[in-house]
Amino acid sequence: MTRKYAVRTFGCQMNAHDSERIAGLFEHEGMERAAHEDEADVIVLNTCCIRENADDKLYGTLGWLKPWKEAGIDRQIVVAGCLAQKDKERVRERAPFVDVVMGTHNVHRAVDLLKATAGGAGITEIFDEAVIDDHALFPSALPVRREKSYNAWVTIQIGCDNTCTYCIVPSVRGAEISRPFADIVAEVTDLAAQGVTEVTLLGQNVNSYGRDLSLEQRRLGDHDVRVRPQFADLLRSVGAVEGIRRVRFTSPHPKDMTTDVLHAMAETPDVCEHLHYPLQSGSDRVLALMHRGYTGARYLERLAEARRIIHDLAVTTDIIVGFPGETEADFTASLEVAAEAKFDSAYLFIYSPREGTAAAEMTEHFVDPAVAGERFDRMKVVLDRTAVLKHRERIGRTEEVIVEGRNKRDETMLTGRTRQNKLVHFASNEMLRVGTYAQVLITDAARFHLSGHLVEVGDAPQHKVRLSVQAVG
Ligand code: 5AD
Ligand code: SF4
Repeated sequence: MTRKYAVRTFGCQMNAHDSERIAGLFEHEGMERAAHEDEADVIVLNTCCIRENADDKLYGTLGWLKPWKEAGIDRQIVVAGCLAQKDKERVRERAPFVDVVMGTHNVHRAVDLLKATAGGAGITEIFDEAVIDDHALFPSALPVRREKSYNAWVTIQIGCDNTCTYCIVPSVRGAEISRPFADIVAEVTDLAAQGVTEVTLLGQNVNSYGRDLSLEQRRLGDHDVRVRPQFADLLRSVGAVEGIRRVRFTSPHPKDMTTDVLHAMAETPDVCEHLHYPLQSGSDRVLALMHRGYTGARYLERLAEARRIIHDLAVTTDIIVGFPGETEADFTASLEVAAEAKFDSAYLFIYSPREGTAAAEMTEHFVDPAVAGERFDRMKVVLDRTAVLKHRERIGRTEEVIVEGRNKRDETMLTGRTRQNKLVHFASNEMLRVGTYAQVLITDAARFHLSGHLVEVGDAPQHKVRLSVQAVG
């Protein structure tokens, strides 16, 4: 009988993309996605450790999966992802019934590991760093089971060479390695041939894409090599692929953002008018403690430049409140920069210590949780206010949306996404297929979405219809 699998993803897009690869490898092996977890023979938990509660979530989930596992002789549990990488043996100690524990550099080994444990003995395999060989290195080079048919993530870089003091990513994802330029463009071309029209380029620090490739060429003796290829070149080349209509990317680092990238965004019509530009803090002192490599003023200057160069740019961000040692004055500086930046939307976090990071050592400066909570609420007021203002500016415009499906709350409405990455709920007399392009007149705006009605139907999707899967966490 065909074995069935289910994957639960916690965390970021990089993780969601790894999940697609694990699913792709399983399907390549003849397995099928289970309609419900209850019907699965294999459950994969793809974990995240970037913020608090990851451990609780994982061990909580494993707690209720234990009876599921014990109820069927062939049932297998795989724990993958960043938490597995970080905690290594600890996962197996706390949940000995787990069949496979595998790290972030072992995605390509998912099927082999599953087979190796078929006899019942658990296995843990955590490579400390990426394996430098063909398809093992970049998850995008493995078979894939994409969650959305019209949109695909494309890994352009793995790892991170920065040393942001709060961040666990460099220690679980390793050093920065850029994927060869030609491979990326070839993958995007292939995706376009399959009917994908929107791609999101993924990396922890996309602006430094290519740096390691040039250094390697120099090391091999080519001293004439300019620092090429760069991210701007990649945007232009991916934007030129026929069939691709929207190019997105995440995340750039403000310290490495170049004018060249901004021009490439402006000059490449397919690159969407959206920049995710993580601020983290507006206080120069805290930014220095965080090792971010810019000041609040510098961030705002670059942002102003981006808005000057790219017409109608939407800007989103990440902000952390309550970083160790953050004073009321530091926090006020963050509020001021956030207000001036006028973000379209923001992910707001309360600092949480990640074991093994530099900031986690600053225990004597930890901010009282009540104070951090209150700062979170105050920051949220500022972010909500500018988000609503930004969204209201869209009222009266006709926007291009890609249809994502029926509105979950109101079945008579459809939901889509604009080039600025805003969610739109809109009325339509006809049901449009997922992936269809449409023109929608925006008539209302709220904090997290726009509303409107269909004006014109554009191109229909070219891909096969597929069920979508939800990420959690
Ligand atoms: N505490 C709180 N937020 C964090 N982030 C990363 N590490 C931490 C941490 N230890 C946030 C940053 C980053 C986003 C992905 O998660 O804002 O940009
Ligand atoms: Fe973490 Fe900083 Fe690297 Fe982003 S740039 S992944 S925050 S270390």
